[in-house]
Amino acid sequence: MYHSLVLIFSLGFCISQIVIAQNATNTYVGPGIPYATPVSGNYGGALRPQVHFSPPKGFMNDPNGLFVDANGTWHLYYQYNPTDVIAGNQHWGHATSADLYTWINQPIALWPPNDFTFIYSGSAVIDSNNTSGFFPNQDNGVVAIFTLAQVINGVGGLQAQGIAYSYDGGYSFNMYAGNPVLNINSTQFRDPKVFWYPGTQKWIMVVSYASDFTVGIYTSPNLKDWTHASNFSHHGLLGLQYECPNLVEMPVAGSNSTMWLMFISINPGAPLGGSISQYFPGSFNGTHFIAVDQVSRIADFAKDNYAGQFFSGIPGSQPQIQLDWSSNWQYTGLVPTGPTEGWRGCMTVPRESYLEQLPSVGWTLISVPYSISSQFLKEITSSDDLKNGTLLLDYSQVSSGALYFEANITGLNPDILAGTVNFTFASSASGEYVKGGTMVNGITWLSRHNIRGFDNPYFTDKFSSNGIYSGSQNGSWTISGVLDRTILEIFVNGGQQSATMTFYPTAPLDMLWIGTNSIPENVRVSVAVWALKDAWATQENFNGTVVGNVTST
Ligand SMILES: *[C@@H]1O[C@H](CO)[C@@H](O)[C@H](O)[C@H]1NC(C)=O
Ligand SMILES: *[C@@H]1O[C@H](CO)[C@@H](O)[C@H](O)[C@H]1NC(C)=O
Ligand SMILES: *[C@@H]1O[C@H](CO)[C@@H](O)[C@H](O)[C@H]1NC(C)=O
Ligand SMILES: *[C@@H]1O[C@H](CO)[C@@H](O)[C@H](O)[C@H]1NC(C)=O
Ligand SMILES: *[C@@H]1O[C@H](CO)[C@@H](O)[C@H](O)[C@H]1NC(C)=O
Ligand SMILES: *[C@@H]1O[C@H](CO)[C@@H](O)[C@H](O)[C@H]1NC(C)=O
Ligand SMILES: *[C@@H]1O[C@H](CO)[C@@H](O)[C@H](O)[C@H]1NC(C)=O
Ligand SMILES: *[C@@H]1O[C@H](CO)[C@@H](O)[C@H](O)[C@H]1NC(C)=O
Ligand SMILES: *[C@@H]1O[C@H](CO)[C@@H](O)[C@H](O)[C@H]1NC(C)=O
Ligand SMILES: *[C@@H]1O[C@H](CO)[C@@H](O)[C@H](O)[C@H]1NC(C)=O
Ligand SMILES: *[C@@H]1O[C@H](CO)[C@@H](O)[C@H](O)[C@H]1NC(C)=O
Ligand SMILES: *[C@@H]1O[C@H](CO)[C@@H](O)[C@H](O)[C@H]1NC(C)=O
Repeated sequence: MYHSLVLIFSLGFCISQIVIAQNATNTYVGPGIPYATPVSGNYGGALRPQVHFSPPKGFMNDPNGLFVDANGTWHLYYQYNPTDVIAGNQHWGHATSADLYTWINQPIALWPPNDFTFIYSGSAVIDSNNTSGFFPNQDNGVVAIFTLAQVINGVGGLQAQGIAYSYDGGYSFNMYAGNPVLNINSTQFRDPKVFWYPGTQKWIMVVSYASDFTVGIYTSPNLKDWTHASNFSHHGLLGLQYECPNLVEMPVAGSNSTMWLMFISINPGAPLGGSISQYFPGSFNGTHFIAVDQVSRIADFAKDNYAGQFFSGIPGSQPQIQLDWSSNWQYTGLVPTGPTEGWRGCMTVPRESYLEQLPSVGWTLISVPYSISSQFLKEITSSDDLKNGTLLLDYSQVSSGALYFEANITGLNPDILAGTVNFTFASSASGEYVKGGTMVNGITWLSRHNIRGFDNPYFTDKFSSNGIYSGSQNGSWTISGVLDRTILEIFVNGGQQSATMTFYPTAPLDMLWIGTNSIPENVRVSVAVWALKDAWATQENFNGTVVGNVTST
């Protein structure tokens, strides 16, 4: 949760005492906010992504509390303002999914304890051994760990870490009466991410001392008593604040071993402006994280990918799964989905990841869409070998407006990357388009320059990056992507690089060109495009409203 730096200078007076919920039954339910029933919303708007999560109405930012329960239900909580389409009035919204694409809106899960303390970002764990003592008779108790942040008359105050516990698998929570559980009298201390470390039989928290560019590592036997263990400080890009740290164990490609990943979001001050995420592969021994080298690695090369969080509950030997917020603090409060459709903010598709050592650049986070084929409605066009050619597709009949595309280039000279593959998604009604391409010298590029529904000095309109082409790839190069009405995510070489770009056309995109150029003889370009499901439309009621899980009322 971005917390403006400017506010620090005017604090002082309001943080001399800690006024945070001391009564487990206290919640502050603001005027007009539905309690114990989901916020309903209309997902039929032309700008609404259909295989991506977005809130029913209001403003959403960081993913929070991601966990998967014993039945395989995925829980997504998120920073949520149910009363406006800009950040503020922070609650934890909640949705669940069996497949990470079709989300069922649930009632708001965490409420402010009073009208001047809000629930900022954090995480959730299953306390299967009752270490907290909250769960005498169950092994599926859920504990949420989050920042209690004071905002008094619009001025940010104390930030301290609190917990809440759920007896019903994460649908409803009780505030712990002993909150806060971790308070260092700071106004810039937030975003706790907690996981269980079997090696020491302790809970571990990584938490940001945002304006000190430091991630604190704490340990606890019971989620209530926290002991400082070490700091990971001043690594990589600083920007102006560190936020939303994650520390996660994940597999290493081509081996049976695992490594640890420190994942840190920075905002403002990213190289392209605003917000971005960086990561550090390394080792963790229960108290200290040590990065393999001094390198800062950027997670996603466009401008709409921030505050990523990894799901808890997945063993480190298996690929890890994350969701990221697809926007940028430089313009998130201005995009047109607010005035025209009453919502702002969407998540990326779920991304599955592991670490791999690539030639030249070394350790790299590999991320691809999780099981995207589960969302295929049907293949709508393909070519076994496009050569120097063009594939043209009118997809106006695809009701979701969402596509997955893939191009494999094989048979290349192992030393030289030659030729180009470009794609253009266009509106037949307005002539607007987004486009991108890849190959010559390993460059991949994207442009939202020719989209007219939103413009802003910070809404940078072109992005590019250099991938790694080497003999070890057996002469192959690939690009794939998910286009979903107002968001495009691309993945180069099976996820060695990715980019997330939002855009807001004045008329729906409905035409796709995929074109190749200068493709050497004997090189094969195999292309396929699939229509994706309408994940939200299936949940609409008779009047087009998605009401969510109303069985709980
Ligand atoms: C907390 O910090 C504020 C501002 O620096 C200071 O005025 C106050 O005395 C501190 N409170 C405690 C309990 O240390
Ligand atoms: C907590 O608040 C509720 C509602 O205001 C009140 O009925 C209850 O007595 C309070 N409990 C404690 C322990 O203060
Ligand atoms: C899993 O599903 C069963 C049967 O529906 C239910 O009784 C149980 O509470 C669920 N467990 C969790 C962790 O949600
Ligand atoms: C869970 O913890 C509580 C509080 O320590 C204790 O009363 C209860 O017996 C524990 N239950 C189990 C099954 O360990
Ligand atoms: C639960 O207890 C078992 C047995 O002591 C231990 O191996 C395991 O790591 C614990 N897990 C959690 C999440 O507390
Ligand atoms: C990984 O473990 C499996 C099963 O033990 C083994 O067959 C395989 O050779 C191992 N792979 C590597 C790269 O060590
Ligand atoms: C963990 O690593 C730190 C830093 O290298 C070291 O000081 C500490 O002793 C290690 N702890 C254990 C349990 O190995
Ligand atoms: C793809 O884009 C590049 C860069 O703009 C351009 O040089 C190339 O001609 C384009 N190729 C096709 C097939 O449009
Ligand atoms: C593609 O066009 C280039 C010239 O731009 C030519 O050299 C090459 O042979 C063509 N490739 C194929 C597969 O026809
Ligand atoms: C691209 O290559 C992958 C991996 O070999 C394969 O699964 C996929 O079907 C290929 N896609 C196309 C369009 O050829
Ligand atoms: C649509 O249905 C829902 C649920 O029945 C209701 O709350 C809402 O007011 C209706 N909206 C319209 C526009 O009729
Ligand atoms: C609806 O919410 C209840 C908890 O209130 C939960 O047990 C149930 O599984 C939820 N149903 C769906 C379809 O999400």
